[in-house]
Order: sequence, then structure tokens, then C-alpha cells
Amino acid sequence: MSIAAIIPAAGLGLRLGGETPKAFREVGGDALLVHAVRGLKAASAADLLCLVVAVPPGTEDTVTKELTPYVGETRLLVVAGGAERSDSVRLALELVPVEGIDCILVHDAARAFVPVDAIERVVAAVRAGASAVVPAVPVTDTIKQVGPAGEVVATPDRSTLVAVQTPQGFAPEVLRRAHAAGVVGATDDAMLCEALGVTVLTVEGSPDAFKVTRPQDLLLAEALLAERRA
Ligand code: CTP
Ligand code: MG
Repeated sequence: MSIAAIIPAAGLGLRLGGETPKAFREVGGDALLVHAVRGLKAASAADLLCLVVAVPPGTEDTVTKELTPYVGETRLLVVAGGAERSDSVRLALELVPVEGIDCILVHDAARAFVPVDAIERVVAAVRAGASAVVPAVPVTDTIKQVGPAGEVVATPDRSTLVAVQTPQGFAPEVLRRAHAAGVVGATDDAMLCEALGVTVLTVEGSPDAFKVTRPQDLLLAEALLAERRA
């Protein structure tokens, strides 16, 4: 059995700003999307049967050419993404082969620097029988729930909170069922599984799997890469 991976990379990166969609923004001379693909390949090597990337409409051919040198034997499919992240994942999921896959990873292009060991923990947990697995890290801020006027409603006990990352890993049948149910407003795929009553397991994530979201995240990414290359 093999792994399939979906990379949602179709977002515009409005919070990051700039002219170029976020997945194509470069760190250390390579696009975030290229870093993300390299990470998945490094973690799953020959096991990665198929990679489906959702990109901004109109960039499919360019992205196919750019990624081909990095995928080796893995089958690469590039599809136009949708309006929301969950639409992009759903469109990509339609292209994932049904046969021969025991784990589907969904990995944000924007989390381009996730370490190999975090990816491996996700895959291992799915292969050990979990239906849905998310890498998680403790939250460092105190989190408040607020009301419409910005007033604090509650302060959840921080020791019970985690921040979740990608890649998230799924038993293929569970991910398909979750997307078919089509819950609106889901910001990750695990949330769609939770809506079905599926238990989502957390495994240890990594601070390096932060999501490039705002301009200062690019500075952090450059520094991280420089340290890794040193
Ligand atoms: N994504 C996607 N399709 C969308 C929206 C987002 O494939 N319609 C992808 C992004 O490319 C990114 C991941 O989902 O890899 C996480 O989304 P986010 O960090 O919010 O990226 P953007 O939506 O591009 O950024 P912003 O919300 O700041 O515009
Ligand atoms: Mg977004």
C-alpha cells in the first residue's frame, strides 16, 4: 500500500501581501510549494504514489513543469483550486486513485518547512489504525473566546489546547466521506472528520511546521532555511 498527498496551494496569500500567490513566493531561492514537495518526498520516498496539487486557476501547466524535477517516480497531478481551502482539497481529492492507497496526507503549501520526522509520525499513526491524524503543538499564548463587541467571554484552560498543523493524515475512505458531507466553513480537514463523529488523533508536531501567513513569517523561514543549510 502507498501514500497519496494533496497540497492545497491555490490561495492568494492576502495576509502576506505582494503580487504573487503565496505558494509561489520564494524562500532561499525556491518557491514555498517546492519546499513543501521536497519535504513530502523526503519523508515518504518511494511510498508516495501520487501527489495532487491544487493551484490558482491558469497556473496548472507552469506548476507541472516546475514540480516535475522534484517528484521522481511519484505521479504528479495539478488541478485548479477552488474558492476556499476545503474546495481546493475536495477538487484534488477527486483525482486521488482509489486503489492501492492506505494513507492520504493533506499538506498546506504554506507549511513548507515541516520536518520529515513530523510527517513520519502522521503516516505511522494512520498505518497503525487511526482514521484521522493531526500534528499538534502546545499553544504559547493565552487564548480568549470573545463576543461580538470584542468582550472576553471565556478563557479556556491552556493546558487543554493545542495548535494543529499539516500534513494531516487520513484513512482514504474517511477523508472521502468527510468531504462528501460538505460541512461549510471548515478550516482544516480534521474538522470535517470531527463533524462525522470520527475520532481525530494528535501526534507531536513541530515549531518548524509554522504556516507562512504574514510578512514576518518569511523572515523566519529564511532564517530557518539558512540554519538548516549551514
Ligand atoms: N488554499 C487553497 N485554496 C484556497 C485557499 C487556500 O488551496 N482557496 C491553500 C493555501 O494556498 C495554503 C493553505 O490552503 O497553502 C492554507 O491557507 P492560508 O494559509 O490561509 O493561505 P491563503 O488563503 O493563500 O492566505 P490568506 O488567507 O492570507 O489569503
Ligand atoms: Mg486563507
